[in-house]
Amino acid sequence: MAEFPVTRLRRLRRSEAVRRLARETHLAPEQFVYPLFVTHGHGVRRPIEPMPGAFQVSLDRLAEEVQEVAELGIAGVLLFGIPERKDAAGTDAYAERGVVQEAVRLIKARWPQLAVVTDVCLCEYTDHGHCGVVRGGDVDNDATLELLARTAVSHARAGADVVAPSAMMDGQVAAVRTALDAAGMHDTPILAYAAKYASAFYGPFRAAAESAPKFGDRRGYQMDPANTRMALREVELDVQEGADMLMVKPALAYLDVIAQVRQRFALPLAAYNVSGEYSMVKAAARNGWLDERRTVLELLTAIKRAGADVIITYHAKDAARWLKGEG
Ligand code: PBG
Repeated sequence: MAEFPVTRLRRLRRSEAVRRLARETHLAPEQFVYPLFVTHGHGVRRPIEPMPGAFQVSLDRLAEEVQEVAELGIAGVLLFGIPERKDAAGTDAYAERGVVQEAVRLIKARWPQLAVVTDVCLCEYTDHGHCGVVRGGDVDNDATLELLARTAVSHARAGADVVAPSAMMDGQVAAVRTALDAAGMHDTPILAYAAKYASAFYGPFRAAAESAPKFGDRRGYQMDPANTRMALREVELDVQEGADMLMVKPALAYLDVIAQVRQRFALPLAAYNVSGEYSMVKAAARNGWLDERRTVLELLTAIKRAGADVIITYHAKDAARWLKGEG
């Protein structure tokens, strides 16, 4: 290998024309998934205060939102529901006519080309805000599995392309796979929230989805931010249980986890660029402290570079516009 002055790495940086040839990582809207919060009621398009640009929308206003996503060439949407009533067992999560189930039907009927992914969890549907059934002050893992499985089957029946269990219960991927197969839905893939950390960065989401726990926190089931070896064990178990795709969440503070999962597993890998990560950028941009466009594209590039195939992000629409050279 020749050294300086024969080798000059700056030669490959001198113009955009050459930089493009040397570029190792590429962003495209077809790698993005846009999260949507579907709420009960009519005519609702309620701004989510800590997440400028994101809204809670009712079913009758969903089309505007989805049309934009489709036009921008974004791969798909990840649906969250805000039900009219919450109870101890999260009944509306698996209701045949629940908000998410109805949203799936509506979207698939008009935009068959969009991937509709559903979040399979109970926290938006339970009155206590935990991700499962609470017994004796603790989330009962095994009793929750049955309800998560029911929820996934109801989403798949409504036409969801992919179901994504996110409750961090042990055995949830196997429970969902078994139930889907028993219901004749062998072909519905599972995107496992495999390494999901107990993160402060979910704060704005909990306001958006009205899903903050009423007591305690989620550290009894979500992962300790200090751990990577345990993340690899979580991923390994989900693969054994039948996961088709994997997810690491959050994304930005966990790029090392994304990189390690990418190295060790062949499954498609998604990274969830979560609400708090979005809010930080928005807040700084609003203050004029960061250039939003450059910041977002740099962060999304970093998530790809770490090894994610798919990025779930609230920036999807803006980023897709910027990549097209608009805005
Ligand atoms: C659970 C769920 C959460 C998020 C996605 N699915 C919240 C939580 O675990 O507390 C967070 C997403 C975000 O912050 O953008 N249903």
